Amino acid sequence: MKRAFVTGITGQDGSYLAELLLAKGYEVHGMIRRSSSFNTQRIDHLYQDPHIMGVKLFLHYGDLADAVRMTKLMYELKPDEIYHLGAQSHVRVSFDIPDYTGDVTGMGTIRLLEAIRESGLGKKVRFYQASSSELYGKVQETPQRETTPFYPRSPYACAKLYAYWATVNYREAYNMHASNGILFNHESPRRGPTFVTRKITMAAARIKLGLQNRLFLGNLDAKRDWGFAGDYVEAMWRMVQQDQPGDYVIATGETHSVREFCEEAFGLVGLDWKDYVRHDARYERPSEVDLLLGDPSKARRVLGWKPRVTFKELTRMMMEADLKLARQELAIQHSESIEVPLMMTPKSKGSQKVAPTKKSQKTKVK
Ligand code: NAP
Ligand code: GDD
Repeated sequence: MKRAFVTGITGQDGSYLAELLLAKGYEVHGMIRRSSSFNTQRIDHLYQDPHIMGVKLFLHYGDLADAVRMTKLMYELKPDEIYHLGAQSHVRVSFDIPDYTGDVTGMGTIRLLEAIRESGLGKKVRFYQASSSELYGKVQETPQRETTPFYPRSPYACAKLYAYWATVNYREAYNMHASNGILFNHESPRRGPTFVTRKITMAAARIKLGLQNRLFLGNLDAKRDWGFAGDYVEAMWRMVQQDQPGDYVIATGETHSVREFCEEAFGLVGLDWKDYVRHDARYERPSEVDLLLGDPSKARRVLGWKPRVTFKELTRMMMEADLKLARQELAIQHSESIEVPLMMTPKSKGSQKVAPTKKSQKTKVK
């Protein structure tokens, strides 16, 4: 049985990748951050009590800022494959916390690569680095392919540039099976709510149900090559299975503006986005990436990979999921209007059981 180690397993991609690997019979070990609130919602459906026999998913505390812990995990687990997805992944936020982003998203990769070498796994393990189309930034050619020069436009992209070259360097210097997936934007119902597609589908659903009346966005002209995350984790796995490591663009080959995404999403619930979307400069970036459009022909040729979900199908999938969540939110609001008084202690004077009643028909408890 193959053993995989996944950083960023609690994120969008980590959750889809864990599903894929478990379905293929892998034993999966994920590194998670200690958090004061639960951060495993995306993988809760996969998690089983480790005391049960035959469990295949294991979670370990760790952090990309902690080299010692990662080295220890490499010694203990000795994985066959490593999928390095953990990162501070928000581009706008990286302008606010550039130091942290550089440390976790850039240096985190070299810490993990060193942990692999230090534990003697360098020759044996296969390593995947979550590189990004943000590397192309101020694009030097369109469409962007593996040979297109990079021009990063944010602290996030600069950190990813470091991680990209660290991966190439460890491949060349130490003969490691280390590959970069240069993934263009990929979305899903599990996308973080502050990324633009999810922000739009959540708002369109909540507006439709009367839970919200405005959506504030930044630059509507930016264009992205949006695919489905479930398709993209399949490409990661295929890269790692190749005899030779390499770098691959993973994209749909189609680009759409943020405005078009709004039109499509609001249109699906019978609304005109122009009636609800307002501009807020806070959501703009000091330097923007105007256009991303990938050429995935190498991935098609070498990996036999192609995207299955179209732009329209993706938007529909996200809208359906967010409508469901908005309906649940509405139902919770409704149930909160039903008053359930706390029980008094049995010994206290005048204690009495009260059946739940609607606010509108309040019963006085004496
Ligand atoms: P995501 O949803 O933001 O997930 C990021 C993951 O990294 C989460 O599990 C997060 O943990 C973890 N993480 C953050 N800081 C960490 C730290 N200091 N130590 C350990 N783990 C940490 O991102 P995603 O969309 O799944 O993307 C996965 C990877 O692909 C990222 O590296 C991203 O930069 C890259 N990428 C994404 C796209 C895309 O369009 N989605 C495209 C190209 C590349 P918490 O859950 O605790 O926050
Ligand atoms: N987040 C956000 N919020 N973006 C907005 C908004 C808004 O209110 N309004 C307009 N946008 C524009 C951004 O300026 C950007 O041009 C575009 O929408 C997409 O923004 P995000 O969804 O935040 O994604 P991203 O392209 O910056 O970065 C994502 O994709 C990269 C791959 O190209 C992230 O997942 C990165 O981690 C990933 O590497």
